[in-house]
Amino acid sequence: MKELTSGAEATIFLDKNQIIKKRVKKNYRIEEIDSVLRKSRTRREAKILEKIPVKAPKILGTNKEDTIQMEFINGKKVRDVLDENVSLAEEIGTKVAKIHDEGIIHGDLTTSNMILKEEIYFIDFGLSFFSEKVEDKAVDIHLLKQALESKHHKVAKKAFEEFLKGYKKANKFKEIMTRFKIVEERGRYKKK
Ligand SMILES: Nc1ncnc2c1ncn2[C@@H]1O[C@H](COP(=O)(O)OP(=O)(O)OP(=O)(O)O)[C@@H](O)[C@H]1O
Ligand SMILES: [Mg+2]
Repeated sequence: MKELTSGAEATIFLDKNQIIKKRVKKNYRIEEIDSVLRKSRTRREAKILEKIPVKAPKILGTNKEDTIQMEFINGKKVRDVLDENVSLAEEIGTKVAKIHDEGIIHGDLTTSNMILKEEIYFIDFGLSFFSEKVEDKAVDIHLLKQALESKHHKVAKKAFEEFLKGYKKANKFKEIMTRFKIVEERGRYKKK
């Protein structure tokens, strides 16, 4: 078994065509809180992987404590290819609309959590949850926009426009955008 990467939260192993994602102990967190967090994020991710209405790794197993086995998506991180192919953002928009229409909030929409194979796959659902609230959807989009601005500075504006081309198919699109503007104002206020 080979270690692929070690992220902020988990260590990712690759075993043949299978990814093993193990959430590791964080020594800066109090032991009891740490184990509750790892367990709840693992369960959350497993549950969402079963329900997600867009391309995502197939779940192959979980111990419901700290480990999930899933399909290995052999592609490129969208983080590494978006700048030279900005129109990918439209596909991101179409897929986030589907996810939101299913009442799922991703919770960590960054281009590191998307893999391009023949199409875009979404990963990393440890912060995902079920909600139909316009507010939660608007915050999800706000986080994506911030990720575009910090990791894809040169193309961020164009990429967000492309995203909206896809996302406008979402249920309650107008309401979500009205709320999105309020969320953005709130963000600006916080920075001052
Ligand atoms: N199913 C998968 N197929 C291919 N690569 C994967 C898969 N799952 C995770 N990875 C790779 O491992 C990295 C970390 O996985 P993931 O985002 O799920 O964990 P994380 O601990 O939240 O990491 P980070 O804190 O870096 O976001 C991903 O960015 C991706 O490169
Ligand atoms: Mg991640």
